[in-house]
Amino acid sequence: MKITILGGGGFLGRKLAARLAKDGALGGRAIAEMTLFDLAAPATVAAPFPVRCLGGDVADPAAVGAAIPPGTEVVFHLAAVVSAAAEADFDLGMKVNLHGTLAVLQACRALGTRPRVIFTSSVASFGGGQEAVVPDDGRQVPTNSYGAQKAIGELLLQDATRKGFLDAVSLRLPTVMVRPGRPNKAASSFVSAVVREPLLGLATDCPVPPEFAVWICSPRSAMEWFLHAATMDTAPLGIDRGINPPGRSATVAKMLEALEAVAGRAAREKVGFVFDREVFDIVDGWPAAFAATRARRLGFAEQESLEDLVQAFVEDDLAATRAERGL
Ligand SMILES: NC(=O)c1ccc[n+]([C@@H]2O[C@H](COP(=O)([O-])OP(=O)(O)OC[C@H]3O[C@@H](n4cnc5c(N)ncnc54)[C@H](O)[C@@H]3O)[C@@H](O)[C@H]2O)c1
Repeated sequence: MKITILGGGGFLGRKLAARLAKDGALGGRAIAEMTLFDLAAPATVAAPFPVRCLGGDVADPAAVGAAIPPGTEVVFHLAAVVSAAAEADFDLGMKVNLHGTLAVLQACRALGTRPRVIFTSSVASFGGGQEAVVPDDGRQVPTNSYGAQKAIGELLLQDATRKGFLDAVSLRLPTVMVRPGRPNKAASSFVSAVVREPLLGLATDCPVPPEFAVWICSPRSAMEWFLHAATMDTAPLGIDRGINPPGRSATVAKMLEALEAVAGRAAREKVGFVFDREVFDIVDGWPAAFAATRARRLGFAEQESLEDLVQAFVEDDLAATRAERGL
């Protein structure tokens, strides 16, 4: 089978590409070719099948068409302008997050072979804030442009599924921690920073109070969910293609406890608290917990413990992050 990863040069896209390259197969079927697509052509990965690396704009229908060649059975649509960046630049967010998704829809439709499309939506497509425990049929009332663009993308892909153009599964990802590399433009960047920076020996300021809770998941769980979404029987989903996967609700204080358990008190003491109104106003609208009953029933894997999640970053990404940042 042929697979395409749009946003294949990003955090989750690179991890997914590495995982597929290692497995050599998806759902028990050999991968014949993988295309990685991002603004700049992503670095290739060593794989037992050909890997095409293309640069282009996901909002450019011709570029997306080239990234989704005939015979493509699975498309992971991860390309996006993330939360704070989409809030700061409305036009860019609309272009990439909305018109990009439309271009993906059209390219998949043009194949005429109903490819599976895994779309990374977000917890930010919901409102409700700290008090919310979002039920499976909770309404998406986003409190930011990024969340609105994700919710629109979900609806478009759901309707395209109903029309038989493609076969979508939209994963409303929790905030994925621990993100390797540098702080990024997601409003939730602090969620990873409070663990990653101290593990690098660096101090960091958390922009929200310790009791602030976030709906999180690990990169390892996100990968399991991607593979499951790509291979599951979608008939039981019916017309409802949005999945709230089983993340974990965790306060910053709990994250720091896990950090201390793995790396000691000195690491925890590298985190200070300096309130940032701009960041707080974005993340405060995001719900901190979901029921996620349907996703569990559909076979989406549970999270590891917070301690295991911190340990996983140490095992998987700490050395590479150190090298990348010259530390
Ligand atoms: N990481 C998280 O915590 C999280 C949480 C919820 C949802 N998501 C979603 O998951 C997906 C992947 O997230 P990530 O953390 O890997 O983000 P990321 O920013 O690391 O990766 C996104 C990629 O999209 C690319 N991109 C941006 N504009 C583009 C354009 N015009 N054309 C082509 N490519 C473009 C970027 O260059 C980047 O490599 C995104 O859709 C994001 O919205 C992520």
